[in-house]
Amino acid sequence: MVFSLLSVADLSSKEFVGLIDDAKRMKSAMARGRRTTDLKNMVVGILFEKPSTRTRTSFQAAAIRMGGDPIYLSASELQLSRGEPVKDVARMLGGWLDIIVARVYSQDTLVQLAEYSKLPVINALSNIEHPTQMISDFLTILESKGRIEGLKMAYIGDGNNVANSLMLSCALTGMDLSIASPNGYKPSGEYVKKAKRLSASTRSKIEIVTKPAEAAKDADILYTDVWVSMGEEKEAARRLRAFKGYQINSSLLKYAKSDAIVMHCLPAHRGLEITDDAIEGKQSVAWVQGINKLYGAASVMKFIAKHK
Ligand code: CP
Ligand code: NVA
Repeated sequence: MVFSLLSVADLSSKEFVGLIDDAKRMKSAMARGRRTTDLKNMVVGILFEKPSTRTRTSFQAAAIRMGGDPIYLSASELQLSRGEPVKDVARMLGGWLDIIVARVYSQDTLVQLAEYSKLPVINALSNIEHPTQMISDFLTILESKGRIEGLKMAYIGDGNNVANSLMLSCALTGMDLSIASPNGYKPSGEYVKKAKRLSASTRSKIEIVTKPAEAAKDADILYTDVWVSMGEEKEAARRLRAFKGYQINSSLLKYAKSDAIVMHCLPAHRGLEITDDAIEGKQSVAWVQGINKLYGAASVMKFIAKHK
């Protein structure tokens, strides 16, 4: 059966943990430029509607290093930009490619790509989720802390796509998560409910609070993301006002455990959601986290190739 990764919730706990472990294996398998044959004879379409430094390059590089052939498709250069329906484009791609990796404004575009192409589709970020980011993030946590279950993560900032995927990922892996967001920017009730449902079997605690210091208390991991996500540029002034104080900095770090790590999915805005000293400091794992996206991409494409 064709498997698409549109949401973290498409995976069972066992599958999600398996992807993290495999990302770790792929990191050794691909060390020092070594290549694998996991995607031999496969053509991977990388269709992006929004900018990307890390996700796009890591999927392209991973496909090449795994013996596959990536094709980059900029949505602005396809007939999509002149109004061709997603389902018509999807039908074409379905005849030419083996996997689609897509970054889109609307989750519904991913659903249509999967339905009409009949190919496995990987969500490379949408308005509501960023599932592939989670595999590299949790690999980074495993490498830094030696475990995942039983840790506490504090997420400071916008209840956005990354926050949604973090809630589901923590629920699947037994990590506690405390999210601090200002009123009006808390994660959607639907996602909180979904995460709480998933956490029943792992007993992870998911809580939403308002004060950053409350979330950060005794945390093993402090995580943040931008205050203004791609597509929200018009709201920038209002958001910058609302998120003032929702910053990872040396004062907030004092509430966390002394060996806490600092994470950011990047790109970072120094002086807004994180200070320069926090992201450049010795507790920051943000750069490893970014580089690990290669292995997250490798692990998810390998999983999909096996299910094809
Ligand atoms: N973290 C992340 O998705 O980065 P890019 O937007 O550069 O892909
Ligand atoms: N929430 C951010 C994540 C960027 C990787 C955005 O959607 O722009």
